[in-house]
Amino acid sequence: MLLWTDEIIFRPFCFGATVIMAQELSQDSNFFSPSAELIVTGIDLPYDLYINSSALEGREKFVRITRVGNILERDDIQNFMRKYHQLYIKESDRGNYLKSLVKNEHASDEEKTEIIKESAIKYLDNLFNPQKEFSTEVLNETILGCKDAVESMVDVVQSKDIEGLKDLIGKLSFHDFYTYDHSVNVSMYCITIYQTMRPEATRTELMHAGLGGLLHDLGKIKIPTNVINNPGKLSDAQFKMIQKHPSYGKDLLASADCIPPEGVNLSIISRVVNEHHENVDGSGYPNKLEGDDIHLLAKVTAIADFFDAITTKRAYSSALTIDEALALMKKSVGKKIDAHIFSLFTKHMNKTISQKSYLELAEDFDPCQPREKLPVVRSEHLETKKKKEGFGTIIVKK
Ligand SMILES: [Fe+2]
Ligand SMILES: [Fe+2]
Repeated sequence: MLLWTDEIIFRPFCFGATVIMAQELSQDSNFFSPSAELIVTGIDLPYDLYINSSALEGREKFVRITRVGNILERDDIQNFMRKYHQLYIKESDRGNYLKSLVKNEHASDEEKTEIIKESAIKYLDNLFNPQKEFSTEVLNETILGCKDAVESMVDVVQSKDIEGLKDLIGKLSFHDFYTYDHSVNVSMYCITIYQTMRPEATRTELMHAGLGGLLHDLGKIKIPTNVINNPGKLSDAQFKMIQKHPSYGKDLLASADCIPPEGVNLSIISRVVNEHHENVDGSGYPNKLEGDDIHLLAKVTAIADFFDAITTKRAYSSALTIDEALALMKKSVGKKIDAHIFSLFTKHMNKTISQKSYLELAEDFDPCQPREKLPVVRSEHLETKKKKEGFGTIIVKK
């Protein structure tokens, strides 16, 4: 919460033809520092800008230097930077900052996506970080922050094809915690896949597709970090624990205090969270739902989940090419994944999957789990490996 004081700073700040008196000062730390180049110019500023007037670490004093609605030019920003070195925006204005960022011609898609991703991760971290105390208030703030991030994401990725998006994802920085990067990637793929399926989709529908993807593994906050971030082989008990995350997530969203932000239909998000591990043949979990009993967006999320897990290069594992991934995924059509959505997905990429894949999925493949090595085996070795070590032995594609 911001605590405003009555302290007045009488130093005038000049920009353009306007002279601003910085009047309000805050000792709260809920500010972030945007990159100067990404502050909008030439139009009404959608957020207040601050400087930190204190040199003492941990005792920041944020002073507002310009208000919402003022128009800054590039020279004004440069003057600010020369004088103050760093500018700040209130956390509560992060959504406005993201919305203005996507319209900023000075920022590349990579820069925009990186910033939107960092924002989404910041909110997810408030929930997933075991050092931070969980409360429904934090959950509500996270959903609201994630919605802001996804709305901006829709603007950036809406016009991209899957291959363009995969290239973009490959250029973004990644974190130690698999769930963060994976959730953001799945969110972006969900938006693109849904846009492919429904070219006339409204922004609200695309936002729901992206938000479902971003929050699909929400229930993992109730599972110890050392289990969800374990890239090695899980014990049966640990795997059973992991399998509870869809219903844990659903329960969190069903809490009476969980208030959806305006425009968000929480029951849709809840179904994605609870049904993203269901398989179309009824072999998934937690409820063994089949075919159309699984929510459409949960089926979209399952494809995005699968695709990201095997195509995104991680710190600890290699990745498949798009052709290899699609050939491998095709083997799960009608079993794990929906045939119609998958055919639109491949058609969109102009891919014809003719060759039989030489890769097989390991039985314990779970796209939501980090893996030291990709959980696939090469068929040419399969028979020998089956005899020697049993199915599930992992041979990593180089
Ligand atoms: Fe999951
Ligand atoms: Fe996942």
